[in-house]
Amino acid sequence: MPKLNSPAELEELRQDILSRREPNKPCIAICAGTGCRALGCDRVIATFKEEVRKQGLVGKVDIKETGCPGFCEKGTVVVIYPQGICYFQVKPEDAAEVVSQTIVAHKVVDHLLYIDPITNEKAAYEKDIPFYKNQMRLLLGNNSKLDPRSIDDYIALGGYSALAKALSQMTSEQVLEEVDKAKLRGRGGGGFPAGRKWKTTRNAPGEIKYVIVNCDEGDPGAFMDRAIMEGNPHSVLEGLIIGAYAIGSCEGFIYVREEYPLAVENLNIAIKQAEDYGFLGENILGSDFNFTVSIYRGAGAFVSGESSALMTAIEGKVGEPRSKYIHTSEKGIWDRPSNLNNVETWANVPPIINNGADWFTSIGTEGSKGTKIFSLVGKVNNTGLVEVPMGMTLRDIIYKIGGGIPEGKKFKAVQTGGPSGGVIPEQFLDTLVDYDELIKLGSMMGSGGMIVMDEDTCMVDIARYFIDFLNDESCGKCAPCREGLKQMLKILNRITQGEGKEGDIELLEELSRIVADSSLCALGGTAPNSVLTTIKYFRDEYEAHIKEKRCPAKVCRSLLSYYIDPEKCQACLICLRNCPVGAINGGKNLIHYIDQEKCTRCGTCMEVCPSRFNAVEKIAGQAVPEPPLQEARVIHRGKS
Ligand SMILES: Cc1cc2nc3c(=O)[nH]c(=O)nc-3n(C[C@H](O)[C@H](O)[C@H](O)COP(=O)(O)O)c2cc1C
Ligand code: FES
Repeated sequence: MPKLNSPAELEELRQDILSRREPNKPCIAICAGTGCRALGCDRVIATFKEEVRKQGLVGKVDIKETGCPGFCEKGTVVVIYPQGICYFQVKPEDAAEVVSQTIVAHKVVDHLLYIDPITNEKAAYEKDIPFYKNQMRLLLGNNSKLDPRSIDDYIALGGYSALAKALSQMTSEQVLEEVDKAKLRGRGGGGFPAGRKWKTTRNAPGEIKYVIVNCDEGDPGAFMDRAIMEGNPHSVLEGLIIGAYAIGSCEGFIYVREEYPLAVENLNIAIKQAEDYGFLGENILGSDFNFTVSIYRGAGAFVSGESSALMTAIEGKVGEPRSKYIHTSEKGIWDRPSNLNNVETWANVPPIINNGADWFTSIGTEGSKGTKIFSLVGKVNNTGLVEVPMGMTLRDIIYKIGGGIPEGKKFKAVQTGGPSGGVIPEQFLDTLVDYDELIKLGSMMGSGGMIVMDEDTCMVDIARYFIDFLNDESCGKCAPCREGLKQMLKILNRITQGEGKEGDIELLEELSRIVADSSLCALGGTAPNSVLTTIKYFRDEYEAHIKEKRCPAKVCRSLLSYYIDPEKCQACLICLRNCPVGAINGGKNLIHYIDQEKCTRCGTCMEVCPSRFNAVEKIAGQAVPEPPLQEARVIHRGKS
């Protein structure tokens, strides 16, 4: 690869790449992201290559291995260009049909199209698929259009033009001003204004300054940073290099969690390619700006994503947070000014420089500009990564994009902000999603986790789950977080096990205030959010557990019983054979009943009872009816 010595040479290269491409040549873009890999996309890719060869189309059709377009539950995802036909749940055995029908005969393969879960209508193009059409995919949109291992693909789509513009047409101060004017807020959790942080680092005393990418992404269920890093690593690199120029830094680190091997692989390739073209190294694009970057692999602790802990880890020590009376932007890695931003924050920088701050501020709400990627999961029909303009309502995200709640169940709440966030009940579904509105409700944006819960979710158990997670992940350095979370977990365990006491709710509230106010870092500072919001919006559920020993959602195992309805039981023996503890009595012609003393409430009987009988019921807060007498349990089959 030739080193590029000026923005003009970059433009020449772009024109050269484009001139060698045929815009109307068919391209089969196959997702090779982690989600689709888990579903076996490697075999899909291999079979498509084989089919193209078999059908004599080598050289006439391209096959591109792309990053994640976000709809992982429907993987392997295949997009056929130039038409943009989307195929879902593609298996190796579909390859022959797609090649012969869509590529050769220009027909759509019907059984691979998206089917709307509500209307049952099929849709072939991204613009018609509700999951995609209601999004604004400024950052994720290119994932299915480029091979993350090809810098030429990125350049063909305008990549590195923002860097060229920044270095050739703008001073470093002007770049910083533009990002500040764009009101870009950090996408990693707190929503802190990026421009302000950049300024602090730039103005902090000291010649050597660092810029860092946070790709720790510790929130359970969140994978937006992984999708960007795996699918479009050059977009993050370009943002980082521009940021380094604005801040006056010559060295950067990219902190990637150990569990993201594909992100590291693609990033290593991207760094090497950027070095070869001269986007990294000395005299970048012929300017006097020098910048190098290295990857640091994190060891997978949630707390290591916190800024001071992450920087301590890069220094080679245990990744524990420190008190931040001096900000890391002034004294970070080895006490030098260090600017940390999240993957998504950095990826927003090139479009801001290319399109200007005014364009960016035209998207979003008064206080939150641009788009945000959410990891939409839980009890929702369409799960995956969704990128929407700030200010879309929760209802639109969950119903228009997510396709609503499966099996016609009722929506109960949505948890935003991952373990540090809170739950938001139905009455706030029309809230405009932005940093400030979510905080007003007691939750937060966090890094973009969004877990939808239906009527079968126990809100006390949800609070217990998140406190359990955070108690495990607390580094233990400060007493309020270490001891406070332990006590909160004890109380929540007690309540969900039917041993809650009067005063437990008030005790949880008091402990929440203490942990939030006096913990060393934001892990403890935000940890009580799930408890406080579930108490605020679902206090009646806590009271039912404590006073009536009843779990209204029928989730808490200790407060449940399973019962076989003698009117519905057909003595089919299935539950009896599957019960792992032999708690079911009955016979071939003898209606079954559960020995409540032996039953461990595992729910296997309910799972295996054939749906045409539906004989097993969950009971909460009431006595289990006695089984019928022996003679009443006999089924006389075949007799009138
Ligand atoms: C316990 C804890 C874990 C965090 N984990 C992450 C993470 O995985 N990724 C991330 O970008 N920020 C994480 N943060 C937020 C960072 O401390 C920091 O605010 C952020 O990386 C700054 O980037 P931004 O301004 O672009 O959001 C975490 C914070 C805390 C308290
Ligand atoms: S990994 Fe393939 S769609 Fe997400």
